[in-house]
Amino acid sequence: LDNMMLDQYGRKIEYLRISVTQKCNMKCIYCDPEGENSNDSKEDSLTPWEFEKVTRSMVKAGIKKVRITGGEPLLRRDVCEIISRISGIDGIEDICMTTNGINLSKMADDLKAAGLRRLNISLDSLKPEKFKFITGGGDLKKTMDGIDRALALGMTPVKINTVLIKEINDDEIDDLIELTRYRSIEVRFIELMPMGSFGEDNRDKIIHNDDLIASRPGLQYLERTDKGSPAVYYQMAGYTGKIGFISPMTHQFCSDCNRIRLTSDGKIRPCLGNNGEVNIRDALDLKADNFNQIVRQIIMDKPKGHHFGADFSSSRRMNMIGG
Ligand code: GTP
Ligand code: 5AD
Repeated sequence: LDNMMLDQYGRKIEYLRISVTQKCNMKCIYCDPEGENSNDSKEDSLTPWEFEKVTRSMVKAGIKKVRITGGEPLLRRDVCEIISRISGIDGIEDICMTTNGINLSKMADDLKAAGLRRLNISLDSLKPEKFKFITGGGDLKKTMDGIDRALALGMTPVKINTVLIKEINDDEIDDLIELTRYRSIEVRFIELMPMGSFGEDNRDKIIHNDDLIASRPGLQYLERTDKGSPAVYYQMAGYTGKIGFISPMTHQFCSDCNRIRLTSDGKIRPCLGNNGEVNIRDALDLKADNFNQIVRQIIMDKPKGHHFGADFSSSRRMNMIGG
């Protein structure tokens, strides 16, 4: 009966996103432009054992899928230990990661051995100079090598996340679509969200996914198979991979939301676009029954939804939530 739990709005919460660090080795313009959450700021992160403990009680409340995020998760030296502890929990059916791919080619084999199934990789440009500009100095070749390694290891489909921004990378849409021609790649175009000052100041630079879809008649709609994913999928006829659209600005997907988030500093954030958080670090010492009860209540209380209206200002930048 435990795993039949629904939240107060009747949603099944099955997907936990764990941000294992706030640190990042890039400075993407829409994420942390001023470097306010500077990478050398002192960080008091949960330990692998603590992540495991929270996840175990989440599994009792219905969680089946875990995504490891950051900051940049591959900056944690014990990331493989975190993965193997979590993948070893009875009831976890899927464990995947969202990364910028910079350190991926050298770590992919170990990640796979630790139990990681799949990777979502952020990639906003295929041009080295543009990539460097958007990421604040990133080396495109490293991320591309990481993608190749994940494909070679069969960690597929590899999902690529692209935040489209008018006049910055919207000239590369067709080149990005081409990545899906022969490979098991899903390229997902994400509408820029107002999380942090760049997004808040550049609402006029959002590319509406509906406009993009209408301008590419070759895209064929695919029936939704995974209701738990925010992406709606299309495909170019004859291509191996798919094109996904994640549209938080133009289409609310809150009523299908199946997610909850755990931050590296020990807070449960039930909704990306709502500043409500509960610190569970101090509760970690409680008896299992009491702790599980607290976790269930937090899931129960997940807000109905978010709206990124002008009145919303996130208490955390993306690097502190992991998307
Ligand atoms: P899959 O499980 O593979 O579909 O991954 P995912 O899309 O859940 O995870 P990923 O980390 O790749 O996120 C892709 C984009 O979707 C990021 O820009 C996230 O910020 C955004 N996203 C994920 N969950 C939510 C959510 O609950 N609300 C909003 N608004 N955006 C979300
Ligand atoms: N709007 C949309 N997507 C964002 N991401 C980070 N910041 C934003 C934003 N303001 C994306 C990254 C990464 C994913 C976890 O979140 O590109 O792929």
